[in-house]
Amino acid sequence: MKILVINGPNLNMLGIREPAIYGNQNYKTLVEMIEEKAKALGVSVSVYQSNHEGCLVDEIQKAYGDADGIVINPAAYTHTSVAIPDALKAVGIPTVEVHISDINQREEFRRHSFTSPACKLTIAGHGFDGYLEAMEYLVNNYSPEK
Ligand code: DQA
Repeated sequence: MKILVINGPNLNMLGIREPAIYGNQNYKTLVEMIEEKAKALGVSVSVYQSNHEGCLVDEIQKAYGDADGIVINPAAYTHTSVAIPDALKAVGIPTVEVHISDINQREEFRRHSFTSPACKLTIAGHGFDGYLEAMEYLVNNYSPEK
């Protein structure tokens, strides 16, 4: 099974940006955690980050016919982008939406996700572990061997 993990804008600034909300661990640590989890689950993973909406759409489109599952944290684009859920629906790859913070307990504008309807599941507020839970969910429910 092949999983693609996609991170949106400012997630490369983890460890620096708002540590009270996103914690002290940096982006490199997140990538290492994801790669370790993939090993433990016996799946292959690639991890992508961009600050640009169109690049995120390109990456989703490239996954067509290649990835079996997507884990996506669209970051701020969660609340603004129609192109990202459109791309997810276009490729039809089972996707889990992840947010490090609990978007439902923050500002009003973060409560609405344009991405959620294109996803099988949304995990919010579980910190970096949310990515690992998302990978586990995809393996348990959408592994092509099953
Ligand atoms: C985030 C939540 C978003 O509202 C915010 O814009 C982010 C990160 C999270 O992981 O908690 O950049 O997606």
